[in-house]
Amino acid sequence: MSTGGRPRILLMHPILDPGPAILAEAAEVVAYPVNQPLDEASIRRAAEGCIGIVSQLMDPIRETVLSTPGLKIVSNVAVGFDNIDVPAATSHKVMVTNTPGVLDDATADFAFTLIMATARRIVEADSFTRQGKFRGWAIDMMLGADVHGATLGLIGVGRIGRGVAHRAKGFNMRVLYYDPHPLPPDAEQELGAARVDMGRLLAESDFVSVHVPLTQETHHLLSTPQFGQMKRTAILINTSRGPVVDEAALVEALNAKKIAGAGLDVYEREPAVHPGLIPMPNVVLAPHIASATVSTRSEMSAMAARNMATAVRGGRPPNLLNPEVKR
Ligand code: GLV
Repeated sequence: MSTGGRPRILLMHPILDPGPAILAEAAEVVAYPVNQPLDEASIRRAAEGCIGIVSQLMDPIRETVLSTPGLKIVSNVAVGFDNIDVPAATSHKVMVTNTPGVLDDATADFAFTLIMATARRIVEADSFTRQGKFRGWAIDMMLGADVHGATLGLIGVGRIGRGVAHRAKGFNMRVLYYDPHPLPPDAEQELGAARVDMGRLLAESDFVSVHVPLTQETHHLLSTPQFGQMKRTAILINTSRGPVVDEAALVEALNAKKIAGAGLDVYEREPAVHPGLIPMPNVVLAPHIASATVSTRSEMSAMAARNMATAVRGGRPPNLLNPEVKR
């Protein structure tokens, strides 16, 4: 598919330098005119005549889009790819790529930021101070929870979960993890992390931090029964994907004081946030920015552009999620 001999690719949303230059060297880039989440039918219309789509996590890329004639690759500028129906892509012989690795540290940093912010009530304290309510030191003012020495429960110890465990070591935390795939013994030892079942993790952790991809198996992994198993003093941290947590059940658990707080970067129906969370001072809310540092987002843009450029030139992109399409 081309105009004037050059293959065309659809850039759904702007990306950071050096991504645009890498794309422009490989193909004619058609930028989608509106930088906003779109429905499948609009993406399909825009993708007609394109060999590739550079998508982002809010773009639904499913059967309607993947059946576009001539489409060869979808390059997602994210590590998560639950917005793409990969089996459908495979059946249409469309390659799918993501951006793993480059955002692990920034995301682990941010999970820790949420741990600190919720435990030490930093958002609440900032707003208290700005409102002129600080009228003198008081021994019982804004008491929070200790992070050092506390128990951290990691649900999922892929690259990002391991990064959080690594940071927890510096805070002298006890680290438990739940993951169907055990870490190699030397990694467990190096991180000081012990594998436990979900029930024990929930029952013993002061902070429960989620680091799993969104799949059918992980949808609503944390819901009413799980919140009921957590300590009343526990804090939930989610930097993975919103639907891993049943948001209505979380609001109910927070209202019923079954758990003490939450630090959230992701939501079940982004960009909507459950209205019940908004007035809660014990909940820290961020707009899906865990990987949002200048260098990380630039790296993600470059990686996605390189994946696309390689495929456009007929090669096998480095971060191919469905290698069966390109043997
Ligand atoms: C961000 O959420 C990502 O998946 O990269």
